[in-house]
Amino acid sequence: MHRKNQTFLIERRALLKGAGMAAAGFAGFPLAGCEAQNALLHDSQARSNPLAIPPLQQGRIEGGARVFRLSLTAGQKEFVPGVASPTIGIDAPYLGPTLEMRRGERVRFHVENELTEGATVHWHGFELPADADGGPHQLIRPNERWSPAFEVRQRASLYWYHSHLHRGAGPQVYAGLAAPIYVRDDEEDALDLPSDYGVDDIPLIVQDRVIDGSGRLIYPSGMHARMMGVRGDRIYVNGTENAMFDAATGQLRLRILNGSNARFYDFSLEGDRPMQLIGSDGGLLDRSHPVRSVRLAPGERGQVVIDLSEGRPLRLVASSPDNAMGMMGGGMMNRRNDGGGSDRVFRILDIRPARAAQPASLPNQLASIAAPDPSLAVRTRRFVLDMGMMGGGMSINGATMDMNVVNERVPVGQWEIWEIANASMMAHPFHIHNVQFRVIDRDGHAPPPLETGFKDTVIVNPREQVRVLLRFEEYSDPDKPYMYHCHILEHEDAGMMGQFVVVNS
Ligand code: C2O
Ligand code: CU
Ligand code: CU
Repeated sequence: MHRKNQTFLIERRALLKGAGMAAAGFAGFPLAGCEAQNALLHDSQARSNPLAIPPLQQGRIEGGARVFRLSLTAGQKEFVPGVASPTIGIDAPYLGPTLEMRRGERVRFHVENELTEGATVHWHGFELPADADGGPHQLIRPNERWSPAFEVRQRASLYWYHSHLHRGAGPQVYAGLAAPIYVRDDEEDALDLPSDYGVDDIPLIVQDRVIDGSGRLIYPSGMHARMMGVRGDRIYVNGTENAMFDAATGQLRLRILNGSNARFYDFSLEGDRPMQLIGSDGGLLDRSHPVRSVRLAPGERGQVVIDLSEGRPLRLVASSPDNAMGMMGGGMMNRRNDGGGSDRVFRILDIRPARAAQPASLPNQLASIAAPDPSLAVRTRRFVLDMGMMGGGMSINGATMDMNVVNERVPVGQWEIWEIANASMMAHPFHIHNVQFRVIDRDGHAPPPLETGFKDTVIVNPREQVRVLLRFEEYSDPDKPYMYHCHILEHEDAGMMGQFVVVNS
């Protein structure tokens, strides 16, 4: 315990109680009525803890399908040693197993809700029938079981599953209802990339949390948290703080999931060392790109390969781009303390190689993906994201999420351009269900390497317009909607979400 090295900065802001917000809070979970944010400044030499690796679950083949049995359970976790906080997990006290499946397979789940509150489980990044999606309409009541099934159509990549409870995704994901999914396929297997789970192929679920002065997990619910999203100043990777990984190989593949509610991260290696970026949300890129940093917003994933051949320890760190009102260098309000500003550098993972090794190389060509062709599109749909005054009117095209309103009817099999514009002063990660799309451009400019592959979530910066090309290949159903929304979970819960159905034209 390095008590001496920790400084408490407690800021208490004037608070405005929100009416009707966070109505579906986790039972027994302390919803802070005010915005007490503790900035625990950690010594960067603080003791390391071995990185927790979620257990790999491959399910069981039954009647031609891969079947997973999962239970949502209440648990406890010590975010600070010796102080237990109530949590939610999937077959675990907190978070859950990595589900492994193969493209082309049929999968079935039996999800048992053993919580005392309703929940949902959404398969983020998958193309699937709307009633298997696990969005707000697929509520699983306490003591009920939900058994969706679908065919895995996705390319090999890192996906995830998490709560999508109507107006309650924020607190449930924060409490732990989230975990990774690995999809494997033949195309990727043929490349011989590092793929030994937990050995040279590691999932990193990066989450920030607010811990109060007594060491308990807090979900702030004041106006500031609802507007900016909940951001903590302590980072947990797979639930481990100050995580350390002992590598036995000369190359490490990290699959990074920004599983935070609201915080954006720029991931990099200390000392500005290069990483090879190989994958985005929906699979491998066409080739690897040497990069110094990777920006991921909530919901986004990125895969990098790190060279450990020198045998020297490396540290993965992240800075956090300021997503305050008046973004990126300038408004009057962006110096507010929101629990760790843009200049903080967070420790994400310390990597300790066993020994020096022969440098390994990556194949030149990864996936074969053609450039997106916007001329295929037969129409353009426009989505304008807005927050209203002080975050009081989270909306898309002027409408706040209404479970009874279908906002868009999209013909199946039709190429479309979705033009997403941001009228607010914060960046929003826009996520679309049931599709992997391609980014055409941002304000007319070609997208960065991470956005040259398949995506299901894309950052839209303030005053920016992003165009994506997409097509819903099947699963038309005029009655069952899918969602599109901001993946800052407090924005989603406050209504920056809309519904679409896929219809026969
Ligand atoms: Cu990852 Cu609609 O959510
Ligand atoms: Cu999703
Ligand atoms: Cu948002």
